[in-house]
Amino acid sequence: MKNLIRRITHPVYKRYHFWYHRKPRKYTYNNIYTIVQPTVFSPINTVSTKVFLDHIDTIELNNKTVLELGCGSGIISIFSASKGSEVTATDINVIAIKSLNEASFEQDFSIKTTVSDLFKNINPFDFDYIFINPPYYPKRPKDISEKAWFCGENFEYFQELFDQIPPYLSDTTNCLMILSQDCDLKNIKNIATKNHLSFVKINEKQTLFEKNFIYKIIKNTYPK
Ligand SMILES: C[S@@+](CC[C@H](N)C(=O)[O-])C[C@H]1O[C@@H](n2cnc3c(N)ncnc32)[C@H](O)[C@@H]1O
Repeated sequence: MKNLIRRITHPVYKRYHFWYHRKPRKYTYNNIYTIVQPTVFSPINTVSTKVFLDHIDTIELNNKTVLELGCGSGIISIFSASKGSEVTATDINVIAIKSLNEASFEQDFSIKTTVSDLFKNINPFDFDYIFINPPYYPKRPKDISEKAWFCGENFEYFQELFDQIPPYLSDTTNCLMILSQDCDLKNIKNIATKNHLSFVKINEKQTLFEKNFIYKIIKNTYPK
């Protein structure tokens, strides 16, 4: 029944969502705010960012290094910085990065930001945490705003991500990715397996219309 409701409401919701986000909107979490610009993924009226934030709130981040890959509005990065971590935030959308720079400056947080297509402009570094809330609908994104939602017809985002990520995964790196029951989890996990990576589920949360899962991504080790 919930699946049915989600399918029926989705086009209506989508139209409303893009109408609402035709102008900048403020999003607040635990007294931290960000401004969601048009074209940038919004945590307002979506579920995954809030579920991820609630999970991150349970992690001790003081003096840890954090990379948020695909930071969108930047609320996860600013929140992580507010918990005492040293944050690097990246996104392919230059508007997202500019807006995050302004919001972090206004709230007196220092965040290193970089416009980057996945790991292309990120030097290999042993981050304590990597947070990823990926686009996962299988369709070719036709512009920068659609890159927030669509991972390519053949899951190109995940193919490239899992190909590039291994040098950033040390034994001490906690790479966390949030996914949803709406994803083609089987296909995404298959792409990970081909790149010698595994998913370990560490949390799940059922909200009204969606179930989200948080996975830790680890490198497979083989007996010598
Ligand atoms: C689902 S949104 C999540 C945004 C933010 N992390 C959050 O949780 O609210 C996915 C983000 O990934 C970014 N993105 C998509 N493809 C990317 C790529 N190839 N390299 C870097 N960022 C990318 C999008 O611009 C978008 O901001």
